[in-house]
Amino acid sequence: MRIDTYATLESATSRDFSDKIAVVIDTLRATSTIVTAINNGCKEVIPVSEVEEALSLAQKLDRDAYLLGGERNGVLIEGFDLSNSPLEYTHEVVADKTIILTTTNGTKAIKKASSAKEIIICSMLNVKAVARYLEGINADVIILCAGTEDKTTRKFSLEDIVTAGAVISRLPGAQLDDLSYASVLLYQGSSHDLHRLLRNCYHYNYLISIGYQRDVEFCLKEGVFDILPRYYNGTIKGRIYQKEADRGSC
Ligand code: MLT
Repeated sequence: MRIDTYATLESATSRDFSDKIAVVIDTLRATSTIVTAINNGCKEVIPVSEVEEALSLAQKLDRDAYLLGGERNGVLIEGFDLSNSPLEYTHEVVADKTIILTTTNGTKAIKKASSAKEIIICSMLNVKAVARYLEGINADVIILCAGTEDKTTRKFSLEDIVTAGAVISRLPGAQLDDLSYASVLLYQGSSHDLHRLLRNCYHYNYLISIGYQRDVEFCLKEGVFDILPRYYNGTIKGRIYQKEADRGSC
């Protein structure tokens, strides 16, 4: 198995995904929200890039069947049901619902990986299930970190890279590119205190500054959900990871 890691969604081209398993990471907070919603029993999550896309998709569905979720500048989008706070996606709220989700970076990163052989949604919350699944299949992997948009450009975000390291460090023997190797060193040096590592980071502090301290604490919990969400045909569905059932299911 060879693993290549990309720091932002712009840094990879669609050619880079062909014939590979893609693992998409946006720890603060899009993939954490998706993993939580799937773990709490939503029917599916449909990631879209733009607000208008979400609204036009909603028009095609029964009002009781879906919830509009997402953020711009980290906060609730006007007229939407839920923000991008994973703590809002409880079982009571999302059970059997279709979640139409649009975020600044994460949903765009998922769409960017569309040409991959298979697309796995990963956050710190489900790193163990993702690593166990990858361990069981013999395929090359591309890890796409969403990055964070600050003002004009999308930039490297440390929380995504340390999450990549949390997955890769559980795959000894894999052949790594430099960023994958760097992510393992970063994770091994800081897994005991991720808040200490991230306390000087842009998006970590931005979310805290707009009142999402509890989100940040929740999103950095490691391996608490044994869930393996997959993006396929425009929608994300998932179930509890089962070694036998998931072996080579791509
Ligand atoms: C994103 O997709 O850009 C992030 O998840 C935004 C956020 O929730 O802060």
